[in-house]
Amino acid sequence: MEMNKAAILKTPRALLEIEQIETWLPGVGEVVVRNEAIAFNPIEAKIQRLEMFDIEYPAVLGYTFGGTIESVGPGVDSFKSGDRVAVARWGRAASDIRFGAFQKYPLALEENLVKLDAQTSLHEGCGVMANLATVVAALSICMNLGYPPINARANRNGKKILIYGGSSSVGGLAVQYAVDAGYEVVTTSSLANWSLVQRRDASCIIEHTKPKEELLESIKMHGPYDGIFDAIGSPEVTSLLGELLAGNGGTFWSTSPTPVDKDLPKNVKKEWASYSDVLVGQEANQEAKMWYLHEYLPESLSSGRIFSNPSDIVPGGLGSVQNVLDTFMDGKISGKKVFVNPQEH
Ligand SMILES: NC(=O)c1ccc[n+]([C@@H]2O[C@H](COP(=O)([O-])OP(=O)(O)OC[C@H]3O[C@@H](n4cnc5c(N)ncnc54)[C@H](OP(=O)(O)O)[C@@H]3O)[C@@H](O)[C@H]2O)c1
Repeated sequence: MEMNKAAILKTPRALLEIEQIETWLPGVGEVVVRNEAIAFNPIEAKIQRLEMFDIEYPAVLGYTFGGTIESVGPGVDSFKSGDRVAVARWGRAASDIRFGAFQKYPLALEENLVKLDAQTSLHEGCGVMANLATVVAALSICMNLGYPPINARANRNGKKILIYGGSSSVGGLAVQYAVDAGYEVVTTSSLANWSLVQRRDASCIIEHTKPKEELLESIKMHGPYDGIFDAIGSPEVTSLLGELLAGNGGTFWSTSPTPVDKDLPKNVKKEWASYSDVLVGQEANQEAKMWYLHEYLPESLSSGRIFSNPSDIVPGGLGSVQNVLDTFMDGKISGKKVFVNPQEH
């Protein structure tokens, strides 16, 4: 194996620096992955630029990636060298520099791997894995909506939900998941991503770029809703949903806390969670975790029924990771999932 290299965040809010880093040896239950696809998430930019979470420095960020297993540690029995896998950096891996996606040869925990079959691209696998876990936890565990059948659609259950932001990566998967679980789904998108969101089968799409009063009116007109999920997590969306619910009061679930949460009307409750942790980290949800990782995710990926937003593969290897994070901070990612191959120079 050639030398390992990483894009390292040495101090809070610094720019990433590309340097040689140790070549890790896999311990018990660990594997080394030849990382061929970093799948980016907005949280990585928010950690770098806004210190959204308390982390230790130096850090190697990056929560999802895909590649080929290079070597396996003691006790790993369900994976072998040469397997193509998608990886989410959950549990104890989340805060350990050795497991960060922004490096060529990260470690991964066996329990955080999904084996990809020949039909499934690395990008589709690691682009969906953590975002869909977020959706399962948010919708089925936190909001108590039903689970969908695998590779099929449940009969309509007569309930309607609003998924605000169907063009985001999480939002698009949430629409598909809820529709398959039998819900009528109303969602939103910009015109630029209309055809992408149409493929998710919502019963109604509302243009979220129209003036606020008009947008609010349209959302109200298509209600009432049995549940509301905000897949954007911005201050604007929090305020909008606060206004939507202010009349009769109510609760919505969101992807992110914002500075305006404290200004919500007293009768409106906003809930949010680190959803992947809810699914994979809580003892009470072990059955849901097993269903997700061993049945629903691999089978939905293999059939192509569940798909991520289109891939944007940015050239330039680790050298382009900082640019991608900057693009996220500038709010310029629209209707796509962004990847970098750290093996490139
Ligand atoms: N809590 C958790 O466990 C968890 C897990 C995963 C993600 N998240 C959070 O969930 C959010 C979405 O993540 P993601 O990866 O899905 O993001 P993403 O794919 O990068 O989202 C980009 C999309 O957001 C839409 N958008 C941006 N601002 C908007 C606004 N004001 N109104 C409506 N749409 C807007 C844009 O749609 P148009 O271009 O069509 O306008 C764009 O396509 C982020 O805040 C992320 O940090 C939280």
